[in-house]
Amino acid sequence: MTIVGRPSVGASMLGGSIHVTPNPCRHAKAHIVHCWSGEDATAGIVAVVGAGKMGLPLAAQFATHGWSVIAVDINPEVVATINAGRSHVGDEPGLADLVSRVHAEGLLRATLDAAAAAREADVVVLIVPVMLDAEQRPDYRYMDAAVASIAPGVHAGSTVIFETTLPLGDTRQRFAPALEAASGLVADRDFFVAFSPERLFSGAVLENLAVYPKLVGGIGAASTDRAARFYASVLDAEVVAMSSSEAAEFSKLADTTYRDVNIALANEFARAADLHGIDVQEVIAAANSQPYSHIHQPGIGVGGHCIPVYPHLLLARAPGLSVVETARRVNDGQVDRALATLDPLVGGLAGTPVLVLGMTYREGVKELAYSRAIALIDALRAAGARVSAFDPLLADEEIRALGAEPWHWGEPGPFRAIVTQTADRAFAALDAAWFPDLRAVYDGRNSLRALALPEDVAYVGVGVQASTRTLAGG
Ligand SMILES: NC(=O)c1ccc[n+]([C@@H]2O[C@H](COP(=O)([O-])OP(=O)(O)OC[C@H]3O[C@@H](n4cnc5c(N)ncnc54)[C@H](O)[C@@H]3O)[C@@H](O)[C@H]2O)c1
Repeated sequence: MTIVGRPSVGASMLGGSIHVTPNPCRHAKAHIVHCWSGEDATAGIVAVVGAGKMGLPLAAQFATHGWSVIAVDINPEVVATINAGRSHVGDEPGLADLVSRVHAEGLLRATLDAAAAAREADVVVLIVPVMLDAEQRPDYRYMDAAVASIAPGVHAGSTVIFETTLPLGDTRQRFAPALEAASGLVADRDFFVAFSPERLFSGAVLENLAVYPKLVGGIGAASTDRAARFYASVLDAEVVAMSSSEAAEFSKLADTTYRDVNIALANEFARAADLHGIDVQEVIAAANSQPYSHIHQPGIGVGGHCIPVYPHLLLARAPGLSVVETARRVNDGQVDRALATLDPLVGGLAGTPVLVLGMTYREGVKELAYSRAIALIDALRAAGARVSAFDPLLADEEIRALGAEPWHWGEPGPFRAIVTQTADRAFAALDAAWFPDLRAVYDGRNSLRALALPEDVAYVGVGVQASTRTLAGG
């Protein structure tokens, strides 16, 4: 069991950390003990509360290392599916097989009864969403309910770990006291409470689990030690015992806010590039050949329930961080920028048929949370445009629910403008001949640089112009 105080992987060079070789499993065969206390080569019972896109892979991973896993969810369909040995999470390579295998081995079951699961479990991992309300403040409704639901089952020796991204200080100040009050026990003495951020990337979760250092910070030394020992027993990645739950909470907010700010900077570089007729992607590729430069890509906006959300969770406890606030404004302003660019190219958006390609927050992941497609459709409609949309992952009724008319791949259409909101590779096969009235393509992800277009159709990327789009380096 290796637990370190600092990640041994240094700063990434040229994004090299994205493609680290997965660590092989070196765990001795674990035997299940009654009342797990962190001994090497032992396993116990773990409850994973929130068996969603992150929770289910975690549950399966823990089971492959000998733990008996209880997945807890409020959704009866999720519980029934897991109890049938199936995964309800699509597009996650390897997950369906893993769930089926560990279920068949008797190591994975699911329940709606969180208190009973917590009572039985040595470790409880919470991974239900914390979102934002309309004023961009943390919305705790799922996490508060989850904590209240496990509280009656928390017992002497329990280890409760929060993996959901939280505002700074919440593990210690919001949730540990709630668990103490409900259990009558003292945290870090009678039971253990820690934060360990979930840092996985949808679509590569099982691979990431074997690579990304697992950061763990407890509300005290005993909690850090117990939680780190748990992860060392179930993960093949390095486990990093941090100095506090706050440091661990902050590390996740820092990593994701950095990405939001970095993208905002790339978006500003794109504006400068447009002013001077320079290809921003050529510039970024060249700048990033210096090992200390890691400039991200510009685009029509930042979506998903991580990157646009976590800067607000940071700001909730550290208001007035001006760079962070500005980055959010810049990134959310990209949709308006697209409309302002398109409007004169199509002779005004009012009454104009527009096709949006890609509705999910990114290609290949069926997730609409905080997708900028929603803001894009709303803004286009507010400008009077007639909006149609296509996403290979969405059905007609799902497109309609977002306020657009479904368009079907290859169908002729009256569109005067096309806007790409994701970089789906399939869009490269688009044929301008399907759209005789087409006047402009706004390439929101700079992924259609090579698309063949008639001379009278304008191409605009984000920091990539018609005159530069055929350049290499993009
Ligand atoms: N999705 C990602 O790409 C990603 C990446 C890194 C970290 N995370 C973290 O993981 C958290 C969860 O994300 P997700 O994508 O797994 O969400 P998800 O929506 O796929 O799953 C959440 C699950 O929690 C269940 N749930 C809600 N309230 C509950 C309760 N009170 N008790 C039990 N179950 C409850 C829901 O029914 C759902 O099945 C995020 O908030 C974020 O902090 C997500």
